[in-house]
Amino acid sequence: MRSLRTGLSLTSLVAGLALLLTAPAAHAADTPLRDLGAAKGKVVGTAVTGSKLTGTYGDLAGAQFSSLTPGNAMKWESVEPAQGSFNWAEADQIVAFAQAHNQQVRGHTLVWHNQNPNWLTNGSWTPAQLTTLLQNHIGTEVGRYKGKIAAWDVVNEPFNEDGTYRPTLWYNGLGTDYIAKALTWARAADPAAKLYVNDYNVEGVNAKSTALYNLVRSLKERGVPIDGVGLQAHLILGQVPSTLQQNIQRFADLGVDVAITELDIRMNLPSDSAKLAQQKADYKAVTAACVAVARCVNLTVWGFADSDSWVESTFPGQGAATPYDGNYAPKPAYYGIAEALGGTSTPPPTGGCTASYGVGSQWNTGFTGNVTISCSGASLSSWKVTWTYGAGQQITQAWNATCTQSGAAVSCANAPYNGTVPDGGSVSFGFNASWSGSNPVPTVTLG
Ligand code: G3I
Repeated sequence: MRSLRTGLSLTSLVAGLALLLTAPAAHAADTPLRDLGAAKGKVVGTAVTGSKLTGTYGDLAGAQFSSLTPGNAMKWESVEPAQGSFNWAEADQIVAFAQAHNQQVRGHTLVWHNQNPNWLTNGSWTPAQLTTLLQNHIGTEVGRYKGKIAAWDVVNEPFNEDGTYRPTLWYNGLGTDYIAKALTWARAADPAAKLYVNDYNVEGVNAKSTALYNLVRSLKERGVPIDGVGLQAHLILGQVPSTLQQNIQRFADLGVDVAITELDIRMNLPSDSAKLAQQKADYKAVTAACVAVARCVNLTVWGFADSDSWVESTFPGQGAATPYDGNYAPKPAYYGIAEALGGTSTPPPTGGCTASYGVGSQWNTGFTGNVTISCSGASLSSWKVTWTYGAGQQITQAWNATCTQSGAAVSCANAPYNGTVPDGGSVSFGFNASWSGSNPVPTVTLG
């Protein structure tokens, strides 16, 4: 009898352990986004930080994407923090990583009103000095990476929301002509690089995108080198512009390429399964709009994992904006991109929270059990776990949860202090119970 019980106990332990070790599907066999994109004639990219390009982050950046955009490393304040003193370390590192992984690089960005070095923004410059500064900056940076950059965001965010020109150091000093000049200098420094003007809130047809459209048309009429427009696409959950494809098409019809350059889709935190499902639909819609227009050549996300995104620090209470969660597990959004690129992978069920039951110690009449509720790509503010005992087990005491048992049916709800399970986190509760004969592990349901 005793040895029988010991055997059953071991079986229960193994079964419990097996349940505990059930991890979210890794989907390692899914076709990488870069390969799905290639089959559709699309380059799929991500913004990256050089120092992070190791471990899982580096593996995913290299395997999933065919283009990298330095998130900050090529901005003026990064490359020339003091006048005449250059720091190319991170930019060089990203370019080398891209070459080693057969990836394109999108250079970002040469002319902007943000992230300029203090010596530049605090200086007082004549128009002639500004012209020299800008020409030298473009010549130096574009020249350094000549032949290694597929496309440059030459001018970033030149417009106000109403379509007027943004008053910047460059506009105020040089007038609208700074744009044509910058493009011309960039072409001279690397004739092979595609030259873009890039902006946000220009994804749908609106006053700002129409101003961009008119700029591109006028540049082309004047023979100024312009190859493409970048639609940043920092979007809000459920608000993909209905005119996105139409807008991409009108730029294509002007004779320029289009790139989705900085895609992310933020939501109010915490995320839940309904929001993640909406986000999947949104990512799929954006990707599908690019797929539908031949001249939409590149779809780049602005960071691929929620833990690396700029969103949470900029929009308090919002986040979860990227295709991977903070543990580098693909979210439904990832599968939205994959499906729009023709992928046939089966996404994991939305929701992302699971409960697992384990048996700790067991003795001749009783045992200690535990249940862990884990979330990945989702979160909970309260929880309840239920199961049905199959062999007459009876709970006698529980901690870190309120448990009731009616017949074989057990229901355990969170204690007042542990209802919250964050994305990427877990909570556990424990209990003592009696058993006799056998102690099979029940199937638990998180509701
Ligand atoms: O490097 C410093 C670090 O030393 C310091 O400790 C830390 C403290 O705040 O700041 C770090 O610098 C931050 C930098 O990112 C690098 O992480 C800056 O504060 C922060 O403002 C900066 O934010 C960047 C933002 O542009 C600035 O406008 C984001 O990373 C970058 O993703 C974001 O990218 C822009 C695109 O270039 C253009 N379109 C919009 C997009 C989102 O804002």
